[in-house]
Amino acid sequence: MARITASVYTSHVPAVGAALDLGKTGEDYWQPVFKGYDFSKQWEKEQKPDVIFLVFNDHATAFSLDFIPTFAIGTAAEFDPADEGWGPRPVPKVIGHPKLAAHIAQSVIQDDFDLTIVNKMDVDHGLTVPLSLMFGQPQAWPCPVIPFAVNVVQYPPPSGRRCYMLGKAIRKAIESYPEDLKVVIFGTGGLSHQISGPRAGLINSKWDKAFLDNLSKDPKKLTRIPHLEYMREAGAEGIEMVMWLIMRGALDDKVEEVYRFYTVPASNTAVGHIILENRRKTTGKRATAGKSRQAAARQASAVDLKFLPSARRARVGNSNPKPH
Ligand code: DHB
Ligand code: FE
Repeated sequence: MARITASVYTSHVPAVGAALDLGKTGEDYWQPVFKGYDFSKQWEKEQKPDVIFLVFNDHATAFSLDFIPTFAIGTAAEFDPADEGWGPRPVPKVIGHPKLAAHIAQSVIQDDFDLTIVNKMDVDHGLTVPLSLMFGQPQAWPCPVIPFAVNVVQYPPPSGRRCYMLGKAIRKAIESYPEDLKVVIFGTGGLSHQISGPRAGLINSKWDKAFLDNLSKDPKKLTRIPHLEYMREAGAEGIEMVMWLIMRGALDDKVEEVYRFYTVPASNTAVGHIILENRRKTTGKRATAGKSRQAAARQASAVDLKFLPSARRARVGNSNPKPH
């Protein structure tokens, strides 16, 4: 049986991709951003997922503004990095998993969620930047990826509650797939940002941090946030955060927060990143081995352990960001 073991949430700021592609990660501006992912790269190596289910939003790239599906699942064998106006990013093509994607489509649609089936799609920074942040610059991405696009570009986007319930349907679909696959679910977008208009540059760290706290501990509370609150508190593009509830719905109610990072700003955006794992059901030796494996991963990373507020949680980031 396939199973979801963990979820990774991260902002997908396009300038982060450009910094990587142009060799600027060591610059003073970018260093703190990339350092925040050292732990995660190590964690991901240990996770060894067989498949990544990646929830993202297309930024009027593959779908243009001519037609905009609310939820779209990529069932193709491969997806090329999109040309967003400066040529495609020099990153590997994304290899899909058509069989699992088709199975998920069948199960989720039978569960009353209408998905658009996408047999051809180029993938923009919403998908490629998170892969780069988690895997660096490999010759090939380490496993197949199923892209899952959500409309947060044109009103009306789906509600948080619907996203959360969809996550549960996706989990059910994955867990009814007969092959023994380890699936990690990724979500991208956010945190607070507004790219244009009189409030361009808006960042609301207090709201972002409360969102991350609730994502970890009380996600149902987040499902009640109306669109207007995202817009008002997190900026017009802050609505991307509603997608994070899809991943959260696909996880257990109670999860292990293994890592958190928050820094302000990267380009126009507050960068937020969190890793949640389903709690291990094993006890005794295997569970202890799991814990020491996590501890080793933390130590191997550049994360400064003095930031740890508890033995279970790693948190780094700009502790005193400047709210705008
Ligand atoms: C920026 C952030 C985004 O999420 C995006 O899609 C485009 C631009 C930015 O911070 O510049
Ligand atoms: Fe975006």
